[in-house]
Amino acid sequence: MPHPLIEKFIRAGQPQVFAFFPKLEPEAQGRLLAEAAEVDLDEISRLTRTLLAKGGAPGVKLDGLEPAPYERRPEHGGDGAAWARAKAAGEEALRGGRVAAFTVAGGQGTRLGYDGPKGTFRVTPVRHKPLFQVFAEKIRAAGARYGRPLHWFIMTSHANHAATETFFAENGFFGLDGGRVHFFRQGRMPAVDFEGKILLETVDSIALSPDGHGGSLRALERSGALDLMKREGVDTLSYFQVDNPLVRGVDPAFIGWHLLRGSEMSSKTVPKAYAEEKVGHFCTQDGRTVVVEYSDLPLALQRETEAGGRLRFLAGSIAIHLLDREFVRRMAGGASALPFHRADKKIVTVDAMGQAVKPVKPNGVKFELFVFDALPFARNPVIIETLRADDFSPVKNAEGVDSPQSCRDDQLRQFARWLKGNGAAIETDASGLPRLAIEVSPRFGYDEDSFADAWKKLSPRPEIRDGLYLETP
Ligand code: UTP
Repeated sequence: MPHPLIEKFIRAGQPQVFAFFPKLEPEAQGRLLAEAAEVDLDEISRLTRTLLAKGGAPGVKLDGLEPAPYERRPEHGGDGAAWARAKAAGEEALRGGRVAAFTVAGGQGTRLGYDGPKGTFRVTPVRHKPLFQVFAEKIRAAGARYGRPLHWFIMTSHANHAATETFFAENGFFGLDGGRVHFFRQGRMPAVDFEGKILLETVDSIALSPDGHGGSLRALERSGALDLMKREGVDTLSYFQVDNPLVRGVDPAFIGWHLLRGSEMSSKTVPKAYAEEKVGHFCTQDGRTVVVEYSDLPLALQRETEAGGRLRFLAGSIAIHLLDREFVRRMAGGASALPFHRADKKIVTVDAMGQAVKPVKPNGVKFELFVFDALPFARNPVIIETLRADDFSPVKNAEGVDSPQSCRDDQLRQFARWLKGNGAAIETDASGLPRLAIEVSPRFGYDEDSFADAWKKLSPRPEIRDGLYLETP
């Protein structure tokens, strides 16, 4: 009599998952069964019908697609008084302890090719601090500034969860109260071949991978994070990615816009750097706000300009959002409303004899959820403009665009800008890049305001020299 779970897989047309089961040691059998229990067979069969069937997923609907409106910064014609009101409201919320930081750190980071959780990757120009330390220090400094330490939620994957927890423990949580740093794993999805058959990675394990950053919504609910937030009086999550050390993860003006508008999900945008920049586009369609990926927006639309020559679809998404707690709960409930996306990949698997197969071209499909797909479901979504230089320089690739080097340079430019803005003499090239390596600890200043306050108090002022590191005494 086969195990009931195995029977279920056979009935679902997925017997290959247990092809080697009888030959496995009991321990390996147990592991495989545990992995199989994670798989939602109905979901896989639905995705096979919708995303894999001949013709694949229906293309993104372009009818009625318009650029989404967004709140321009005051220097670009936005309403300065409204921005000031938003900032005051955000500061009030921070003093009231209503906001928690949320980092999604469950990705595989294949493009960077770094061995270890991406958050442990060293990014700063002088002290070579890892990404997690940069965020931790910003969160700690913001907590001190507003008199309320923040909770910080960190979503990990099965692959990096233990290593992430160990890293924080070994580093004393970078000075944060460990009781306010919460780790939870995101869900996994099995990879399938082009017929929808679940792939084995080895004879005793399923090819499982993280379910995308959109999996964060269900993982927040499942892990009890939302209940914890409720108990602690936190109603707003500040969502950012683990690869972007420039992010202002605690941004009072953004928080204020979100709260004053009664928004359930808000996002930051930067104007695209050029027409074909590989970012999502904020759009509206049928009265809803949507993000359309560059790969789904025809080139003609990506390049379309207005009368004055400005790009029409200008507002790019940089994966910085605010999420209302109960909105996340609603989105996570039951059969999640977020759609899965299909990505054709080279998936390491086994052949009929159980021998390892390393494909040279895509041999199957991974399914992923994207967090921005929640936007059309949100009440009163707000999009605000931010400056790329203040919020966005991700480390994605080993070299070139969005690499450790470009991110280091952007950090240097930011530090130089803050120093210059407060009257310090520092030589830079035309792009604002200083000739000297300098670093500002987030604990000294983590944004323009906190830097200016700390700089004012600094006496004597240090000499601007190579290797200068500004830290609170
Ligand atoms: P990316 O889209 O850059 O993916 O993730 P990635 O997996 O980190 O890197 P590549 O594509 O393999 O090179 C953007 C953010 O979303 C998180 C990542 O950790 C990063 O902060 N993410 C992505 C998750 O938390 N879970 C996922 O399943 C995917």
